[in-house]
Amino acid sequence: MLPCQRHLFDIPDDVAYLNCAYMSPLMKQALEAGTAGLARKAHPWELAPDKFFTGSDEFRSTAAQLIGCPGDCIAIVPSASYGIATAARNLPVKEGQSVLVLEEQFPSNYYPWQRRVEETGAALKVVAWPSDKDNDWTAAVLDSLTDDVAIAALPHVHWTSGGRLDLVRIGAACRKLGAALVLDLTQSLGALPFSVREVQPDFAVAASYKWLLGPYSIGLLYVAPKWQEGMPLEENWIQRANARDFSSLILYTEDYDAGARRFDMGERSNFALLPAAVRAMKQLLEWNVTEISETAGALNRQIAAAAAELGFSFPPGHLRAPHYLCLRRKTGIPRELPEMLAREKVFVSVRGSSIRVTPNVYNSAADGERLIACLQQTANLSR
Ligand SMILES: Cc1ncc(COP(=O)(O)O)c(C=O)c1O
Repeated sequence: MLPCQRHLFDIPDDVAYLNCAYMSPLMKQALEAGTAGLARKAHPWELAPDKFFTGSDEFRSTAAQLIGCPGDCIAIVPSASYGIATAARNLPVKEGQSVLVLEEQFPSNYYPWQRRVEETGAALKVVAWPSDKDNDWTAAVLDSLTDDVAIAALPHVHWTSGGRLDLVRIGAACRKLGAALVLDLTQSLGALPFSVREVQPDFAVAASYKWLLGPYSIGLLYVAPKWQEGMPLEENWIQRANARDFSSLILYTEDYDAGARRFDMGERSNFALLPAAVRAMKQLLEWNVTEISETAGALNRQIAAAAAELGFSFPPGHLRAPHYLCLRRKTGIPRELPEMLAREKVFVSVRGSSIRVTPNVYNSAADGERLIACLQQTANLSR
């Protein structure tokens, strides 16, 4: 368990921010790294050509440490949707086959597949919400992995409920079937341990601005070696083998730079975003993701216990990710709750009939108590 890390962030005392699944706050040091990076553009004469490569490679090697793979397997992407679209462009699927997704999966890991099946005559196969199976997504996915599935496009954690998938078992089942596994780790990487070696995905993407504690518009894409000869979404100069020699750029070449670099987005050497993202990932490595998970999990357990007393229910601990807690109540969410939360500066996501609570290492027990106080007061009002 980590002690509260709030001092590393710029979070005012009167704010209880329990909404990392929406967007994480940027650490002070990451903000400084990003600001210094942006300032470099004020003096372009100091920006040597090698800087187009060193920052990107540092991003690759740091991201690679987080997921346990060689830096060469990491591409730099602007969003989860870009990474999923790259996978969709490269993975074969044909008529009579299907692409497996979860019910109510995040749109960035849905639309690219919807398009792909439309183009190929394949079908989307949607794993129904397993309400009748204890909300056990792993069992539901394993049941759905039949011969017709060519690609399973899944998250590690369902983005609204926090339901967790056992990717090691699902990965093994996909390999047995010969199905490709594509992962959107945006709501888990940085808060839930993940290992490429254990899961063996074909592609895995994570946007940086949530649990990776990084800036918006940058993310990592893991590409398994077998797909690294594939087709990128865009063709740009810096993905090519001759990019390091600025004087030979118009000696057009068929050859790409090594590994997953061919899948990098255009202008990937972003001098402001990359250093901020790298600083944040280095901090995650220093804290250790298992410790982060346990720390967020402990706070959620405290909140869950107090919320249960107020009549709220939530999925059992072994089926949800520790950093997620979704509270529901038979009688619904008190009508006055959103206004009360706003007044008390308690930030969670209230969606329909559920409250999504997603703390991180900058939260303290006091933040949880402030949320419970709001739930208690509104519960009394709606009685
Ligand atoms: C599961 C999941 N994936 C991806 C994203 C962000 O997608 P994109 O980077 O394509 O905007 C979100 C944002 O809420 C998310 O919850």
